[in-house]
Amino acid sequence: MQGDSVILFRLRPTALPGGCYECEPAPTDIEGKLTKVSIPKETAPGERRVAVVPESVGRLAAMDLEVVVESGAGEAAFFADSDYEAAGASIEPDAAAVFGDAELMVKVNAPTVDASAGRCEVDLLRAGSALAAVLAPRDNPQLVRGIAEAGVTACALDMVPRLSRAQAMDVLTSMSTVAGYRAVLLACEAMPKMVPMMMTPAGTLRPAKGLVIGAGVAGLEAIATARRLGAVVKAVDTRPAAQEQVESLGAKFVVMEVGAEEAEDAGGYARDLGEEFYSRQQEVLAPHVEEADFIIATAVIPGRRAPLLITEGMVRAMKPGSVIVDLAAPSGGNCQLTEPGTRTERHGVTLFGPLNLPGEVPVHASQMFSRNVAAFIAELIGDGRINIDMENEIIRETLITRDGEVVHQALKEPPQGKED
Ligand code: NAI
Repeated sequence: MQGDSVILFRLRPTALPGGCYECEPAPTDIEGKLTKVSIPKETAPGERRVAVVPESVGRLAAMDLEVVVESGAGEAAFFADSDYEAAGASIEPDAAAVFGDAELMVKVNAPTVDASAGRCEVDLLRAGSALAAVLAPRDNPQLVRGIAEAGVTACALDMVPRLSRAQAMDVLTSMSTVAGYRAVLLACEAMPKMVPMMMTPAGTLRPAKGLVIGAGVAGLEAIATARRLGAVVKAVDTRPAAQEQVESLGAKFVVMEVGAEEAEDAGGYARDLGEEFYSRQQEVLAPHVEEADFIIATAVIPGRRAPLLITEGMVRAMKPGSVIVDLAAPSGGNCQLTEPGTRTERHGVTLFGPLNLPGEVPVHASQMFSRNVAAFIAELIGDGRINIDMENEIIRETLITRDGEVVHQALKEPPQGKED
């Protein structure tokens, strides 16, 4: 989700010549009246999404919020400044003013640093303002500390809990849906074959065989997309509950012998099953990997390195021309040969380790993100104020900094089992 952004933080002057300065922790006034939401242009390299699209401006206006958009913020997603103005937003040409005047800033990616320009986005934010973005706070403790020290109240949109009530705000689900779809197109485009079964005067062509590893949000969307294109699909997941969903999409489920309680936690997320289990799983998967024309790998355990499920030997056994798209690349990859952020070829197999597939589908990815954000803001404000209600699970789970402190419990504890 972070793309290949340079993520950054409160750099001290010694670390960034001519750059950022240290702010004194300042008390926030974030629970004062909220009148304005600011949308900057994303600065992470290659990012084409925008956090709020014109369609959502009216929804925010209905909450008595003025929307300020940096000029050109929606350009890469084909939303013109004039579209925002027609929807009632105002356009601000100066990026520093968008940040400096923000009451609530909404971004797609975490604040970035542009070392050459000596600019650090966190330092542009005013003490007492609020920030909502995908912050990957567990992976970026330095960023989180920097935001807290700047006196900015931050909500990590990627920490929205997977509750039914929070579904409309869940940007990770939205982005994984886009990624699952896009991964299949990437694989099919790189394959030297057509996908569906075809009966032609030149005879019958067999359909392509797909294997989806991990049948969560991205995996299920990958199955649905591959089936629509006419592929024959198998899928594997350690959670027995995934079987019914996989089969309902017309794919065959590769069963791993794991009990439901062992496989998933109370939140429905996969548990780490240990190296011994993953070695056994590699053996179970080997024949399915070998026969696949394309593999979409999405297996992750929150907060951990992605399990290694496709070894180099398994890649070597695949047919030349086969393709692996490793969506778990940001967490280390499910395939031993994945190089995050690149397309490579090994043993005749094309390997993709994409870091930001949603950014390649900027119109719908931005639209979904924007709708999620509007729903989140509606949850966050009450009586025209930012209402930090710690009884509200959605707010409690997303709030990471407040009053100069890191406040999220999970970020105060040392990370467990995370490997580099
Ligand atoms: P999810 O949590 O909904 O699904 C992950 C699935 O993997 C779960 O169903 C889980 O049970 C399964 N799993 C865990 N261990 C397994 C194992 N050993 N074998 C088989 N299945 C296993 O996550 P979601 O939202 O589908 O995201 C999947 C991955 O895609 C994440 O790493 C996410 O960061 C990544 N992603 C990557 C993008 C990119 O552009 N590279 C964009 C969006 C998401």
